[in-house]
Amino acid sequence: MIRSVVRGFGSCLPKRIVTNKDLEEQVATSDEWIVQRTGIRQRYIAGEGETTASLGEGAAREALASAGLSVDDIDMIIVATSTPDNTFPAVAVNIQNRLGMHHGFAFDVQAVCSGFVFAMTTADNYIRSSMVRRVLVIGAETFSRILDWNDRTTCVLFGDGAGAVVLEAMEGDGTAADRGILSASLRSDGAHQDKLYVDGGPSTTGTIGHLRMQGREVFKHAVGMITDVIIDAFDRAGLTAADLDWLVPHQANRRIIEGSAKKLDIPMEKVVITVDLHGNTSAASIPLALASAAADGRIKQGDLVMLEAMGGGFTWGAVLLRW
Ligand code: ACO
Repeated sequence: MIRSVVRGFGSCLPKRIVTNKDLEEQVATSDEWIVQRTGIRQRYIAGEGETTASLGEGAAREALASAGLSVDDIDMIIVATSTPDNTFPAVAVNIQNRLGMHHGFAFDVQAVCSGFVFAMTTADNYIRSSMVRRVLVIGAETFSRILDWNDRTTCVLFGDGAGAVVLEAMEGDGTAADRGILSASLRSDGAHQDKLYVDGGPSTTGTIGHLRMQGREVFKHAVGMITDVIIDAFDRAGLTAADLDWLVPHQANRRIIEGSAKKLDIPMEKVVITVDLHGNTSAASIPLALASAAADGRIKQGDLVMLEAMGGGFTWGAVLLRW
């Protein structure tokens, strides 16, 4: 049975760090309020010349180097993003060109904060059908460019960045002991689209618009939705939370992460947290967290890792893999 195994990983953050103290000078907020409600202490904000594609390119180059591969070895690129450089073409073809790759194919997926989970699942299906052998899966965002910097209820929450992995086809036994993606669970329900959205777009206002969110409503649904897909992914693989080595959640908010871990009886020592350093980087947050925990040696070959996210739409999903 073909499995999609993570062969390399990488990340790229903008140069500029913006602390909570810095934001105190911009809107009526405080470091204490932000830390207490979200766990965020700082975020990286893209400057001139830094875009979703340039950050994605940086993460992709690092992932290729860590895999010991070149673009010649890659068949397909998927970018998860809701903040493309242009309405079209896709960020993925922009990155393909930046990398000097002129074979294969590339496209974007848009599932907001769940984008990386949806992109991993998409790549896994292309690999398992034998259509491709190696895929660069990238999560890249510049949410700072769609924030209303006068709205303190949203502008303090988000940051920019990119992370990437190289997924590679590998023969497995078809058991839960295999390396690679073991199972996944995806959901969406557009009935919630008014709770977290951007109030513009090419087909409506002709502008890019600003992010709008009913924070309490998102919070209310988050833990239940996240834990449902995690349990479904465990069930599909015949495993339980007791088997898990690492939970790598979407980094929206420390309280949502802690609530989900508690409900599943996963100790916080097994949870990768980067929200304090990066803020919410939407589709980039999981690959950024993965890259940091793999680079410092926490996630090791053979470890069982659960990725999970929930975001605008709502969309939500989980991917269970053995590193
Ligand atoms: N600084 C200071 N005060 C603030 C700020 C701020 N940045 N933002 C809001 N407040 C005030 C409000 O105006 C309100 O004041 P009032 O009581 O005088 O009206 C008070 O703080 C409480 O506001 P709430 O919105 O009720 O605060 P809550 O405890 O719900 O926390 C938060 C807000 C952090 C957004 C929370 O609802 C949350 O975490 N929601 C989840 C949303 C999320 O994480 N979204 C990320 C995108 S979705 C995703 O990635 C899953």
